Formats: sequence, C-alpha cells, structure tokens
Amino acid sequence: MQPLTAYRARPLAGNIRVPGDKSISHRSLLIGALAIGETTVEGLLEGEDVLRTAEAMRALGATVTRDGDGTWRVQGVGLGGLREPSAVLDMGNSGTAARLLLGVLASHPMTAFMTGDASLCRRPMARVQGPLEQMGARMVTRAGGRMPLAIVGASEPMPIAYRLPVASAQVKSAVLLAGLNTPGRTTAIETEPTRDHTERMLRHFGATVDVVEQPDGALAVTVTGQPELIGRAVSVPADISSAAFPIVAALLAPGSAILLRDVGVNPRRTGLLDSLREMGAAIELRNPREVAGEPVADLHVEAGSLRGIEVPASRAPSMIDEYPVLAVAAAFASGKTVMRGLGELRVKESDRLAAMARGLAACGVSVEEGQDSLVVHGTGGAVPGGGRIVTDLDHRIAMSFLVLGCASAKPVSVDDASPIDTSFPGFTALMNGLGADIRAGFAA
Ligand code: S3P
Repeated sequence: MQPLTAYRARPLAGNIRVPGDKSISHRSLLIGALAIGETTVEGLLEGEDVLRTAEAMRALGATVTRDGDGTWRVQGVGLGGLREPSAVLDMGNSGTAARLLLGVLASHPMTAFMTGDASLCRRPMARVQGPLEQMGARMVTRAGGRMPLAIVGASEPMPIAYRLPVASAQVKSAVLLAGLNTPGRTTAIETEPTRDHTERMLRHFGATVDVVEQPDGALAVTVTGQPELIGRAVSVPADISSAAFPIVAALLAPGSAILLRDVGVNPRRTGLLDSLREMGAAIELRNPREVAGEPVADLHVEAGSLRGIEVPASRAPSMIDEYPVLAVAAAFASGKTVMRGLGELRVKESDRLAAMARGLAACGVSVEEGQDSLVVHGTGGAVPGGGRIVTDLDHRIAMSFLVLGCASAKPVSVDDASPIDTSFPGFTALMNGLGADIRAGFAA
C-alpha cells in the first residue's frame, strides 16, 4: 500500500506532456507483432498495463525491444506466425490487454492460459467469449466468465457479423483482431460509436477496414481477413485520459493556466472536453494536426468557475474513462450535474460509480447514485474534502480524488496510489511540478 495525500495546490502553471496514449500503445505492440518486418514506436506509454502487452507479445514469439525513453521496436512474426506461449500470460490490471489479446489468439490454432490481478479477475470476459466462440475459438473461464481462463484458438476460423450488445471498443477490437487471421470479411456492428484506434492503426499497417452506416444509424466496421500487415512507424500522442487530471486540477485551482502538448484529440475520445466547455471551462485547442493517422493538438487550460450540466447518455462512449474526474469538477461547480448511461462504469478496474459516490460523500459532497446514473450537487467552489479514499486497485479513482484534494478545504488521502503506474507513471512529480502539493502518507 502506498498512501498519498493531496493538499491545497498553488495556482498551477507550466507546459507539460503527459505520457503516451494507453489504447494506442497497446495496439502498436499487438499489431506490430502481427506485421511483417519492423515497427518503431515513439512515445509509447511505459505504464504497467502496456508493459504487460509487451511481455505477452514476447511470450508469443515477437521480438520487442526498448531502445530508450518511450522508443520501442517490434520485430513482427507475421499474421498466423505466433507461437504457443509456454507459461500463463499475466495481463496484470489491464482489461484492454486481456480482451484485445484474446481476439488475436482466437484465430491462432494453439492453447493459451491467461490471468490478471484481483481487479482484472473480477471483470467480465464473457463479452468477448461470445463472439470469439462464434468464430470457432473455445474458452474455459471461471464462473461468470472471469479469469483465469484458457483459450484454444480456431484452426479454421469463420468470419462473423457481430452486433455489440454493449458499447465497447475492446469487444469491437477483439472481433476485428480475430478477423485478421480469418478468411473473408469480419464485421463488428456498433450502435454507439466507440474509440476507433484499432481501425485507424490497422489501416496504417496496410489492412482494409470499411465502415458502413446501417439504416438504423449503427456503424458496421469490417476488416478484410488475411491482409499483408507491414511494419510501420507509430508516433503515440499524449493520452487525453491522463491529460484529464491536470486539466481538471487547473480548472479548479484558482489562478491556474497550463499548456498540455501533443494531446490525442480523436473525436471518439473528447467527450470530456465537450462537457467541461458546456460547464463554462476555458479550454483552447491549439495547433491541431494529424500524426500517424490520429488527430493531435495542444490544449491550453485556464481556471474559472464552472456550472452544473446534464451530460447526455449518448456521450458516454467518448468519455467513459473520464466520468470520475468529471464528477470531481462537478463537485466544485454551481448547481447539479446529472450523468446518465453509466452502467459500464460498474465493470471497470473497480465499480467506479459506487467508488465516486462513496468518495465524494466522504469529501462532503452531496450525491445521488442510481443504477446507471450519478447526480452531483455542486458546492459552487467550496468542497470540504478531508476524505480517506479506498482506491481498490483503480488508478483513475486514485488520481481523481488527488485532483479533488488540490482544491478542497481539507487535504484528501488515497489509501493506495500504486495503481497509478498502470496508466500514468510520474503522475505525482508532474502534478507537483505544476504547483500541486501531493505527498506520501496519510494526512496528519
Ligand atoms: C479501451 C476501451 C474502453 C476504455 C479502456 C480502454 C480500449 O473500455 O474504458 O480504458 O483501449 O479499447 P471498454 O471497451 O470496456 O469500454
């Protein structure tokens, strides 16, 4: 256990680059390992989640080398060229690593065993088991579709058209990645658009991915099987889901003004920016550009007062990981903020809906927790703070409450900050460099 406490911050100031995008980092290693030749990656997130993917791809036969800070090389084995891993694949805390890799394994005729930490072993894997078994793979899981599990990849995988029952980029990606080593065309149909990093990166490596709107408005995303994937150069933008924490801290600590460089602003990921702007936040996108198939910009953020809003449920997929920190912003706003369509938050690294409701209440904020909704009654700026938060192996719960403590009257402690390294190594040093006051241990 590594307790940390956030005391009231000075006005935040500075120009920073948060670590690389987690979703894109995982995909660069996975798809690089399936390509022919060398893939070079710059700006890779060296958090524990992505290091698990690197380790797994090595266990499957790819050569994955770290050349320097964020600079990595992958020598791919080519589609179908993976070898059976001799040991259990341990995906740590990472649902993305586990579910995307299961997609890859589903169309490789070999047996693999997979496990993860206590958090990952609580999370549902049935959502990928369903479509991957339709394609011909077999999986054996613990009760409720939980890990540890075994997967036997199909020797003659069949293409499917699969309508996603939940809005999940991980499930969509698992189906598309399984479709790579499958003859014919494999389709994932999504009623709500989720992040499209897999589609963009597959195209970048030479695959054909078509997106066709259906009469009911759903998107049918189709990959043409057995493409020749060629190793490419990938430049990973800074992760908007990590940028979210200094962004909200700068909005809340009076007098702050910060610049975040090279942030990925893929429109399927920017729901938080839309919501914060509707609340009155001053966030400016500067120098928008495209890097390796992904939109990137610098973000300028200035402190200011916020007002409560209704966040439409349809926005959930584009800010699914940002609700905890949005709820923190809402606690400081004037008026109430209503968030709906949050059912998926209950199956993240922890039950984030319950964790936010409990933690905000412990910090003196009035909340109403519904089955898939959260209402935060904003204080208009004066949040008491003083809570001691149980992070339950959830990095984003830990960081959200440390951000709250940057602007609340009394300091806020988290019982275990070690999960932060899964997605945002260097979080505390970077925040303190901007003017935050986050220290080891519980509040005195
Ligand atoms: C991710 C998809 C989302 C997100 C996760 C990363 C991805 O999960 O919460 O942090 O990289 O595809 P779901 O697909 O479960 O919504």
